[in-house]
Amino acid sequence: VKLTRYVDPLPIPPVVRSTGKTDEVITIEMRQFQHRVHRDLPPTTLWGYNSSWPGPTIEAQSGQSLNINWVSKLPTTHLLPIDHSIHGAEASLPPVRNVAHLHGACALPEDDGYPEAWFTAHGEHGPRFNPRPSHYPNCQPSTTLWYHDHCLGITRLNVYAGLAGFYLIRDEAEKALNLPQGEFEIPLMLQDRLFHHDGSLFYPKVVNGPKEHPVWIQEFFGDMNCVNGKVMPFLEVEPRRYRLRILNASNSRFYHLRLFNSDANGNILNESYDVPSFQQIGTDGGLLPSPVELHYLLIAPAERFDIIVDFSDCAGKSFSLINDAPAPYTMGGQYLPEEVMLFKVGKLLSGKDSSAIPDTLVPFELLNPSFTTHERMLLVSERERSSDGYVIIGLLGNARWHEPITEDPKAGSTEIWSFVNITSDVHPLHVHLVQFQVLNRQSFDVLTYQQTGKLVFTGKPMAPESNERPARKDTIKSYPGYVTRVIMRFDLPHGTEVTPGQEFLYVWHCHILEHEDNEMMRPYKVIA
Ligand code: C2O
Ligand code: CU
Repeated sequence: VKLTRYVDPLPIPPVVRSTGKTDEVITIEMRQFQHRVHRDLPPTTLWGYNSSWPGPTIEAQSGQSLNINWVSKLPTTHLLPIDHSIHGAEASLPPVRNVAHLHGACALPEDDGYPEAWFTAHGEHGPRFNPRPSHYPNCQPSTTLWYHDHCLGITRLNVYAGLAGFYLIRDEAEKALNLPQGEFEIPLMLQDRLFHHDGSLFYPKVVNGPKEHPVWIQEFFGDMNCVNGKVMPFLEVEPRRYRLRILNASNSRFYHLRLFNSDANGNILNESYDVPSFQQIGTDGGLLPSPVELHYLLIAPAERFDIIVDFSDCAGKSFSLINDAPAPYTMGGQYLPEEVMLFKVGKLLSGKDSSAIPDTLVPFELLNPSFTTHERMLLVSERERSSDGYVIIGLLGNARWHEPITEDPKAGSTEIWSFVNITSDVHPLHVHLVQFQVLNRQSFDVLTYQQTGKLVFTGKPMAPESNERPARKDTIKSYPGYVTRVIMRFDLPHGTEVTPGQEFLYVWHCHILEHEDNEMMRPYKVIA
């Protein structure tokens, strides 16, 4: 369907705030519900945490743990087409299964939403199910986390149906910075979607697919951008600074975003860069040491960009937020949809803007590569059907999900993981438990690698982007033809009591959900 842009106001998800009481338990229910995604569409049937898309924004305090009792009230039939040939999505299992993962959190394995820890509304559950509420220690600095479904083999469908929300950790250091707050701090969850004329969600099946996976599609790209669950909304702002906490929660789409001078209907007036810039102040895992000025944002699935935009001198103007990233990224041919949302600086100043963009934000501890005990070379590859090159699965470390664990860092140790991408796409790679730091990227000869297994570099290591180092990241763009190196320390949550040799099971995976569901995910373990 073709829908009029910028006619619905941007919704702000409801907020659930932790009280800070010890042993506090918050209950979040997954339910099927109806929601209007656009003025001109009938209501859409969705799944949402607390019947909301996005789910409620959970606000926690650094250093104060929080327990969440994740409950399913979902029906027994799935909204979307399941591919039962995918590992972990067998037809013998109940079709509606869920498990929530807090992305970017430092939590113990039983609280981390392991893909096989799924459960249903009717008491069935997977092998690693934890019946207790999930315990989140929040032993990390203020940052933008998010929670979403993580069930083996159907994550893409569960998240697409609406199961995702923000989880913000706050601390004193953030408070002291006097950043824009309250109604001037706005979460933006970006997701692309397809809708039928009757408003129902559409998730396509593969056409003429292989017999291995007759339903699964390699990537999902919608023709509408939704922000906080509305199609191409607008936001009326005051002429002042706003803090925007942007999350790309799309299944596969990358966003390359710019602001354009527009009229109040969103028609682009000119392409000049005479628009407010983005001051990035934070990444996946926390605030940056100092702001980074950007004129565009390149956001892979699961990445978070904490930014400040200063509309102070823009009273009466409008700016459209436009995406021009090809899909798949970077070599794909689809550019639509371009429109994401419209900012209208139409409100009067309600009071003086006393917020600041400080030159220095928070101290930052760089991990030292000379302290590493291990460098792991991890292949990022795809397996193709020999007859026509159709990609059947993606692989990490050249292994499938069920094969023996190969990544087994020591608790507290520092390692470098080098992702060797021989595919033709960028894959956003995510490691549970840790926040890592990007070291560099280095080009190599893919053909030689494929023929001989030897890494022959074709360039010098390239410095990370200005907003990647120093920065705390849990999801990194692994570019085709490059080795992307990250460094991380495998710390368990503060105060975890361990017995020597004890194993802590996590996963790492590509965050293109279609890839993650189909073998591009591996278990790993931290050994005490
Ligand atoms: Cu955002 Cu393993 O997940
Ligand atoms: Cu991928």
